[in-house]
Formats: sequence, structure tokens, C-alpha cells
Amino acid sequence: MWSTLLLLGAFAPGVLSVPGAGDDTVEVHWVGDTPKYTAGATFGLPWPEGKHHFNSTAFGISSDAGDEIPLQSWVTGYWRDGSIKWTGHAIPPLEESVDERYTVTARRGHSGSAPGVDVAQSKDEVVVDTGKITVSFPKHGSSIVGSIKTAGGKVVGQNGRLVLHTQSVVAEDVAARANTAIEYLNFESKVDNVTVSEEAGVRALVTVRGTHAPTTPGAHDAWLQFVVRFYLYANSDAVRVVHSIVFDGDADSDFVSGLGIQFQVPLKGEELYNRHVRIPGEEGGFLHEAVQGITGLRRDPAEEVRLAQVEGAQLPDISTWDERVSSRMQWIPVWNDYKLSQLSPDGFTIHKRTKAGQSWVTVPGGTRSHGLTYLGGATKGGIAVGLRDFWKRYPSGVEIGNAGADEGQLTVWLYSPDAAPLDLRPFHDGMGQDTYEKQLDALEITYEDYEPGFNTPFGIARTSELYLYAFDATPAADDLATLSKHTNEPPVLAADPSYIRETKALGSYWGLPDTTNDKAATIEDHLDFLVRFYEGQVEDRRWYGFLDYGDYMHTYDEDRHIWRYDVGGYAWDNSELSPDLFLWQYYLRTGRPDVYRLAEALTRHTGEVDVYHIGDWKGLGTRHGVQHFADSAKQVRITQPQYRKYFFYLSGGDERVGELLQEALDTDKTYGVLDPQRKVREDGWVPTPGQPAAISLGTDWAGLAAGWLLEWERRGPRWQEARHKLTQTARGIANLTNGFVTGSGLYAITNGTLLPPPEDPNNDGIVAVSHLNAVFGMPEVVSELLEYWGSDAPAGLRDVWLDYCYFYSATEGEQEARYGESFGALNLIQGHSRLTAYFANHADNATVAERAWDEFYNNEDGFTEDDPWNSTVIDGSAVLIPVDEASWVSTNAVAQYGLAAIQNLALVGGALAGSPYP
Ligand SMILES: *[C@@H]1O[C@H](CO)[C@@H](O)[C@H](O)[C@H]1NC(C)=O
Ligand SMILES: *[C@@H]1O[C@H](CO)[C@@H](O)[C@H](O)[C@H]1NC(C)=O
Ligand SMILES: *[C@@H]1O[C@H](CO)[C@@H](O)[C@H](O)[C@H]1NC(C)=O
Ligand SMILES: *[C@@H]1O[C@H](CO)[C@@H](O)[C@H](O)[C@H]1NC(C)=O
Ligand SMILES: *[C@@H]1O[C@H](CO)[C@@H](O)[C@H](O)[C@H]1NC(C)=O
Ligand SMILES: *[C@@H]1O[C@H](CO)[C@@H](O)[C@H](O)[C@H]1NC(C)=O
Repeated sequence: MWSTLLLLGAFAPGVLSVPGAGDDTVEVHWVGDTPKYTAGATFGLPWPEGKHHFNSTAFGISSDAGDEIPLQSWVTGYWRDGSIKWTGHAIPPLEESVDERYTVTARRGHSGSAPGVDVAQSKDEVVVDTGKITVSFPKHGSSIVGSIKTAGGKVVGQNGRLVLHTQSVVAEDVAARANTAIEYLNFESKVDNVTVSEEAGVRALVTVRGTHAPTTPGAHDAWLQFVVRFYLYANSDAVRVVHSIVFDGDADSDFVSGLGIQFQVPLKGEELYNRHVRIPGEEGGFLHEAVQGITGLRRDPAEEVRLAQVEGAQLPDISTWDERVSSRMQWIPVWNDYKLSQLSPDGFTIHKRTKAGQSWVTVPGGTRSHGLTYLGGATKGGIAVGLRDFWKRYPSGVEIGNAGADEGQLTVWLYSPDAAPLDLRPFHDGMGQDTYEKQLDALEITYEDYEPGFNTPFGIARTSELYLYAFDATPAADDLATLSKHTNEPPVLAADPSYIRETKALGSYWGLPDTTNDKAATIEDHLDFLVRFYEGQVEDRRWYGFLDYGDYMHTYDEDRHIWRYDVGGYAWDNSELSPDLFLWQYYLRTGRPDVYRLAEALTRHTGEVDVYHIGDWKGLGTRHGVQHFADSAKQVRITQPQYRKYFFYLSGGDERVGELLQEALDTDKTYGVLDPQRKVREDGWVPTPGQPAAISLGTDWAGLAAGWLLEWERRGPRWQEARHKLTQTARGIANLTNGFVTGSGLYAITNGTLLPPPEDPNNDGIVAVSHLNAVFGMPEVVSELLEYWGSDAPAGLRDVWLDYCYFYSATEGEQEARYGESFGALNLIQGHSRLTAYFANHADNATVAERAWDEFYNNEDGFTEDDPWNSTVIDGSAVLIPVDEASWVSTNAVAQYGLAAIQNLALVGGALAGSPYP
């Protein structure tokens, strides 16, 4: 795999181009350090409106030295006029040397297909040949991977399957085990269908869908839907695997006690002393073992024999060894089985045994395993499989089985069977909250919005990323170390912030960091502090775990020096007030690699776990709480597609996130079965499927609108429906006497019409302003939408939005003069200062710009300059472990301060230096 990329010359660049007007070059760089190794990469690039059309543009990419690299290009988003807004691009591994930057060109011409990956399809399987490996994907049966064969013709892995183990109940304590009848069940993948990307040049994407079926037929229904995506790049011996499951079981009887991906590794004909196991340790470390070890023995077979085994090389012929060893091989134990368990983010244990029925022997362990595990032989080759963020997603594990047999197994556990089963039952029994009054009263104290039946995990999901590498022979330890880094930090290519900003493809409400004056520089320092503080909190507070990793907590408990992980609505954040938007916008302007990784992990969490993917609530998410799925507020404000948009486009159209965006198009159906206002409704209205429903013009409509706009941009299969609903509802809002200030409208799913709300059937104009409407993506969505439409925006839409922006924080007198009544006491003024700034920018009004900064600095519930803007270490007996504390920080405040700071600087930054504030 380390050989020079000889094939490169054989690639026709696939570009038929004639240089001329309209040529564009865009630089891309690695996010973070230039990687030592790449296995093929996909990235996204934005383009300004009106510049390039797909059928008349040829994309190319070249290195520093001007060498053309094969490039596969496709469109992930279009501007309204049909010109290209976003492209996705794939490049093969860069083997000889990796440059810091590459140049992408867009020329007149058209991109031919870059030859590379060879895809063959038959009735029974899909076979992909990258030039380095050939992988087959059966279309039926239990294997999601048929075989993995190297270019040298060795089958190094086969019958890759998903494995699932469950139990029907859990014993409530150790004594209860004696009288708890537990049914244990084993499941394995059952493939429903396999599809392959239409275009396969540099990269082929194979998508396998199915469920987990019981290995004893009839023992249980097939369940736990999965979709596993395999990305194979030309000339690469690595496969990227994106594994997603949806929980469609019963939390009271389907306890997951092990979830993994398992490969068979053919070892027949390999001497036991030439078989190697590499168990992943810390950083790039490994435990190096041979299945039959010839080191450390009482007699020495010869130094070169010992060294060869440790290096993973084929041993000299046994006839050349010291006979005192070679004659006694039958007495040296054969270690068939190994397992590593990472049951906490702080430690892993390793055990091995000779075979079932014999005791496990403890192998010294460590703290945080990187997870990349190898099984193979010096002459037969083998595979390494790694789970990204292995220790952060504890309880995880790896297992080697039957390494002494003709066929060994390598299993990566996404959920370790050594851990207590995954318990998705509610954390409390309802505490007698059987009436609305009691639930409201409980909310008053724990801030949890409880309702029986709503605390269900049915329909939540989780996505994991793995890499699989194939070898003709056991690789050197340093090479495996390089791959372990690649697995955990897959290299990402990105355009510079200034270029992305210029294209406006992710809006124009953010700008590059501003240090042109002291006040702006102070804000930049604050933003930096907040992001670093959260990075540190993830570690200090161990915000890790199979379902939890990526998320943050909502509010801090100063007395206990701990985030309120156990207090109702103050625990897991579930995107409350848009930390997702803050982190992505902060990444866009700074290009910082640490921020990219933080935002990526958050998006992978919030888009999957906090959201329902199937069933009646598909497209809705769950409000913040102790468990990600427990709170009874199920709303689109949590699913908000805008939260996924940045990652989707930057990643070149991540297909799993694309699928989540598709799911979001069904969100509007939920209004027919679940009324988001049901807890506060007084008119007795009950939803009926297909019938008009009252939706809020912020938390609801902003989420629906973002999904519709994305589908329109992507020209997805439902884009015309999406555009219609978007346009109709926007027209409806523009038509309301009080526009967005009306607060809600009656939405008809059948034709997309938005009529005045039931309280105001004649559209006389009512005032219902909520502090929540504009803090779940609405400013970003409306701003992008108005730019997307340009002069074609529904008449009056811009005006009603500018009105909302101006009047939300205007004086009561101004509100009364405009709407006949004031908006009442509103909060989140700091976050809303970006609405004022938006107005000021559009009206080019310096007075209002100054008002925006006043609201940013002087308000009741945001951060102020008098806050400490630092953290303190708390240690000793006061805390479990030493932690960094900033008790003045809450995630709501961070998200809204961050967004206001970024957008105010971008929109009215010029007014800051001269303003009398703070
Ligand atoms: C590109 O051209 C093909 C063939 O003429 C056509 O089917 C396709 O719609 C065009 N695509 C775009 C984005 O214009
Ligand atoms: C593939 O199988 C899944 C179930 O696993 C099903 O939902 C989907 O409709 C199938 N797709 C096709 C194209 O058959
Ligand atoms: C807007 O209002 C006018 C008159 O009040 C009505 O005719 C029209 O249908 C409305 N349009 C929408 C999209 O609601
Ligand atoms: C859309 O549907 C609603 C509810 O059925 C109906 O009141 C309205 O007249 C329809 N609008 C149009 C333009 O068809
Ligand atoms: C700016 O806005 C203020 C406050 O609404 C208004 O009084 C003033 O006339 C506006 N100035 C300009 C130049 O439009
Ligand atoms: C944090 O800031 C406060 C207020 O500015 C100051 O009094 C305190 O000394 C600072 N603490 C640390 C650890 O820097």
C-alpha cells in the first residue's frame, strides 16, 4: 500500500476542456495538519451564483507542482437560476506525497468520467474493484460484504456481517439474577437491498440496507433497521464504512447487549507462528502478538526468528531454528481469542484465552484505545478494522476469535457485549404526573416537559464511521499507527473561509474574524474562550458515550460544580437555541480544525439521536432532557435541517446527512397527528391527518422552510413539491396583516397554503411574538432564502421579515404605533440583536446599527462585558475530578451570544468602534 501511485499515469484526467472566459480556480487545503496518508477523500466546494453550469463545466484538480490528479465531480446544490451552488468532489489516495494545498479549476467544457473504480453488477452481487482491492457485496443473505480480495489475489476478509445480541429483560441487581428469566437472542444482518452510486469514477458508493434477523428463525421479528454505506476509492486499499441503525424495538424487551460488525479472516495454510494479532492501544500504540508466540520462551529459536515474529514478518523456515524450540512447538499455547473492552472513556482492558472452556488471561490494558485492530498472517495477509472515535463512543470493543483455526474472526463492537445492556427505558416512572396540571407543576420545578407515552426511543438512530484496510502481509506497526490516525481523524479538504464567504453559498450573515478595533477584538477573544471552554468541558465532564458523544449539557449547577445531567430539562442540550449553528458559523469564519471536529461530532449526534427517523413523529426531534428522547416536546425546531446544512455541503454531500434531509420532507405530516401546541391550546382543536394545522411562524415554519429550501437547492426528487410549499407558505406569511408578528398560521399540507391562524380567521391582525421563534435557525433560513429568491421573492416577504427584525426589540411605543399593541416582555435580546443588525444592514441605518450593539451589550439574559470571561479550576474534595468551571456560562447563552456576535460583526461591524457601547 505504500508503493508509488503508478496507476496515476494511466488515469485520463477525464476533462475535456477549452480554456476561456469563466475559468475559475479555487484553492483547497487540509483542515488541520497535512495528513501523512490519505485513502481517497471527498469534499465540497461552493460557487457564486450564475457562474457555472454543470453540463458546460469541466472540473480539475492539480497539486502544487501542477500535476493533474483524477477528480470525480458532481453537483450537490444549485442556485435558483440552475447554476452550480455546491459541488462534491472525490480524489483517489495521494500516495507519493501529500501537498498542503491543491487547486481546483472550473473551465468551460464538461467533466468526462474519470476512469478508476470498476463496478460490476449481477443478480446476486455488486463487485467493486479499486485496482488495489476487489470487494463483493451480496444482494441477499446475511453478509453485507462477501469478500475482500487484494490485487495480489488473496482473499483477506469475507462474510462481513452485522451482529446483534439482545436480552429480553435485565436483572435489576445482582441478587435478582437468581430469579430473573432472561431470554438471550442472537441476530445477524439480513440484506434487503444493495444499490451502487450511478456514477463511479474515482469513487464508488455501495449502500446496503436491511434489518437484523434472529439466527434462530422465528425467535423474534427482524428488527433494528440498518443502512451501511461503503465508500471505495480508485487505487485505494481502504474502505470507508458509514453504519447507521434506527431503533425500532421495544425499550422494555429489546435490550441491546452487543452490536458489532464482524469479518471472517481466512488463515488456512498460515503457520500459527506466522499469524498476527494487533490490539489497539493509546495513540498509535499496539499490542503485538503472534497466535503462537516464540518469544520469551525458555529456549531461544534464534534472534532473527524472534525479531521476525515481533515485526510481523514470515519466520525463517522452522528447520533452521534451534531444535530445542522447533521440536516442542506442540507445548506452546495457541491463543485463539482476544478481546478489548473500552467500557469507559478512561480505561480499556484486554484479555485473551486459548479457547472456549479455558480461563481468560489478563493482558495489561490502558486508558483510551484508538480502536484499529488487525488480524492476519505474514503470508496470507489480513485486514485491519477501526471504529472512529472508538473510546469516545464507549462502551466499545474489539474481539478476535478462532485465530488458530482455518478462519479467524475480527469483530468491532459498536456496543460492547461486556457492558451492561443498552437501557432505553425512561429514567423515572412518571411520578404520578397523570394530568396536565401535574405535568405543568412538575415542569415548574425540574423543567422537564413530561407526558406519559412520549418518552420513547422508538425511531431514534445512531451513525458510526469505520475504516477497513486490506493487506497482502502483516503490516509494519508504524504503518498501522498511521492508519489509526487516519481512522480517527479522516483528512478533510476545504476551501478557505474568504472564498466561501465570497460565494455567499452559506449566506452572507457571517464574516471573517474582525480585529480592526478593540471592541471587535474583545468579542473575538470571547468567542475563542467559549469554544475552547466547551472543548475542555467535553473532556472534563466526560461528554462521551455511544449515544451521547457530540452533545453538550444545557445548564450548570454551581452548588454541585457539575452540569445538571440529572435535572429534567437542564441536562442534554439537544440543539437548544442552536449551538450547531454557532459552531458551524464559527468554523466557516475561522477555518479552525478543532472547531470543525467539534461541530462534526455535534451534527452526527443531534441529527441522529435527538430525532425520530421513522413512525408518526418522523422528522420531529425531542426537547432537551436527561435522556435524548424523553421529553414530551417533539418539535421540528430540534430536527431543523439548517443544523445539518453546513456539514452536508462542506462534506461534498455526506449521503447519510442527505438521507436525514430527505426524511425532513415528511415533517409536515406530523402536524396531522401531533399538535406541538397541544399543551397550551385552549380552543380544544385536535389534529386530523391531512387537514390544516396551526404552525408557529418560527420554531415550526423555519424548520420546514429550511428543509424545503435544501430540497430545492439539491433538486432532490421532491424539489418541486418543496419549492411549492415554501413559496406558498412564504406568500401566506407575507399576506398576513401582521406578517411574522402574527406568530402562527393555518397550514394546509395538501396544497401548501398558509392561511391566517384560527384566532384570526379574517386576518384582521393579531400580535403573538415568542422569544423562541427566531432562535432555532429562522434568521439564517430567511436570510438565505431571500438571497436565493432574489428579486423573485414573494411580494412583501422581505418587508414582513424586516419588520419582525426591527420591532422585536423596539420600544413598546414603536410596537404600539406599528401594531396597535406592544409585544409584552420578551427576552433573549442579545441573540435577537442580530435581527436588529439585519434590519440596520438592509436599511443602511446607522441609528439602528447602534441600537443592535446596545442590545448586544446591555440586556438582562445574555452575557455582558462584566462577566468573568474566564474559567477556574475546581479540584480537591469538592469535585469528583479536577474540572474547569465557568458557572456564568450556559449553553443557551453561548449559542445565542455566539450567533449574535458573528452576525452583528458581519452586518453592522462598521458601527461598533464608534458606538457608545458597551
Ligand atoms: C445535462 O445534460 C443532460 C443531457 O443533455 C440533461 O439530461 C441534464 O438535465 C443536464 N443537466 C443539467 C444540470 O443541466
Ligand atoms: C431497501 O430496503 C429497505 C428496508 O431495509 C426498504 O425500506 C427500501 O424501500 C428498499 N429499497 C429498495 C430500492 O428496494
Ligand atoms: C393573499 O391574500 C389575498 C387577498 O387577501 C388572497 O386573494 C390570496 O389568495 C392570498 N394568497 C395567499 C398565498 O395566501
Ligand atoms: C388549500 O387547502 C385549504 C384547506 O383544505 C383550503 O382552505 C384552501 O382553499 C386551499 N387553497 C387552494 C389555493 O387551493
Ligand atoms: C433610522 O431609523 C431610525 C429609527 O427607526 C429612524 O428614526 C430614522 O429616520 C432612520 N434613518 C434613516 C436615514 O432612515
Ligand atoms: C476571572 O475573572 C475574574 C473577573 O474578571 C477575576 O476576578 C478572576 O481573578 C479571574 N480568574 C482567573 C482564574 O483568571
